[in-house]
Amino acid sequence: MRTRTVDYPRRPAVDRSLLPPGPRELPIVGQSLRYASDSLALLWEAAGYGDLVTVSTKPILLFLVTHPDLIRDLFVTNHRSVGRGFLTETYRYLMGDGLVTADGPLHLRQRRLMQPQFHHSRIAGYAQVMTDFADRHQRGWQDASRVDIAQEMSDLTLHIVVKTLFGLDPPDTVRRIGEAFEASNDYITVRGNQPVTLRKLLHRMPTSLTRRFKRGLAYLDQTVYGLIAQRRQSGLDGDDLLSLLLNVRDEEADNPEDAVMTDQQVRDETITLFAAGHETTAVALTWTWYLLATHPDIQRRFQAELDGVLGGRPPTPADISNLPFTERVLTESMRLYPPIWSTGRMTFRPITLGGWEIPAGAGLVAPQLLVQRDPRWFDDPLEFRPDRWTPEFRENLPRFAYYPFGGGPRLCIGEGFAWMEAMLILATLGQRWTVRHDPGHEAALMPLVSLRPRGGMPMFLERRERAGAMPAAA
Ligand code: HEM
Repeated sequence: MRTRTVDYPRRPAVDRSLLPPGPRELPIVGQSLRYASDSLALLWEAAGYGDLVTVSTKPILLFLVTHPDLIRDLFVTNHRSVGRGFLTETYRYLMGDGLVTADGPLHLRQRRLMQPQFHHSRIAGYAQVMTDFADRHQRGWQDASRVDIAQEMSDLTLHIVVKTLFGLDPPDTVRRIGEAFEASNDYITVRGNQPVTLRKLLHRMPTSLTRRFKRGLAYLDQTVYGLIAQRRQSGLDGDDLLSLLLNVRDEEADNPEDAVMTDQQVRDETITLFAAGHETTAVALTWTWYLLATHPDIQRRFQAELDGVLGGRPPTPADISNLPFTERVLTESMRLYPPIWSTGRMTFRPITLGGWEIPAGAGLVAPQLLVQRDPRWFDDPLEFRPDRWTPEFRENLPRFAYYPFGGGPRLCIGEGFAWMEAMLILATLGQRWTVRHDPGHEAALMPLVSLRPRGGMPMFLERRERAGAMPAAA
């Protein structure tokens, strides 16, 4: 049974004159049509009204927050009065009550139980899988070929996440899981832009979109529940995350039955981790390769660092701290192209923000994409400049001027996992390949759930001659 632990008032009555300024909106529909057709353009325009802006008062009350101090007040100071609410409502079709969608006491409990599974020492155990899959993947690449690097990174991170989460690697299973995820992504994107009543109606109707989504969901459920039953029956522990979650014990539970996660909770959490961790990392890598391809001098420095530190051998977690330039490249890439381009909260109690009273039942969005390109915090904000990330610069930067992984008690639980995975993949592939920009392609943003490039990211691959003196294949 699905458990909602927080109640949000749907549509608070508001006196417009008591709210922060913002763009004009239409009667009845407010900004919903503009939000559905081009949310980013609407938010860019709204940001011109100030650091806290009323984007719409109907059919939902929505604010835009773009000052780092206000974002800190929202994510940290007021964290007990805000949750996900309607902002992730459609994700529940796929994720149920996993960490991304859960609120209140359920979220706190699940986070407490899951946090230790993401401890550095645990995650380091997945490094070998990451480098092995990266190496195996690049062996299929051809010199001078043109590839869609977005698709390549998506395939690679899919294999890694399916292996680390579920312990599975048969190609057909991985492919079907990937297809189910794509169907869910399309479904959530389309349904997320529809009014609630229409969405609920269409969710029960056999439209082709709904059928494709439900088919994929049934496959995911069958696979995950099958694995849970198998592991519970055999008593065998794998080292995948699903096995770890099956063994979690809640020391604070009142009775023994509540000390373990139910099958459904394990299902919801693993599917959540899968959905939250697969595409985000692929998108981060895609934009990083794009930026390297369009800045050949930076790509050369990146490769020189890899050659110097690794000399052709596969990277390990211990190497990561010795690759400071690669780390700055990735940091700067996630500044310009934050894979989750906007993060938000919904109030279930009134809060005060920047001196304004925000009623319960309001949505507040704090888009990384806007804040991380704000000239108040970043000189030449549209320039790709990894060297800006000096220790002094980091020290002086307001905490929430750069937050690709969010913050406060809902900070991305997979941050360490994602950093390690992205660094190991960059280091494995960058030693052997140079990426070249396709001059016929103009990169454009597609800000849906994540910040995918519109139309993929075609690129030319060039096998490196030195390649850190690595043999072409072991
Ligand atoms: C580059 C890759 C990634 C980026 C940019 C990213 C970004 C984010 C962001 C912005 C949030 C919302 C934080 C907030 O609301 O304050 C989030 C939450 C989350 N992420 Fe990630 N993420 C990435 C990779 C991963 C990975 C690899 C996993 C799992 C293995 C993961 C699992 C989650 C989960 C479960 C949440 C919900 C946490 C909660 O609400 O308690 N993410 N992520």
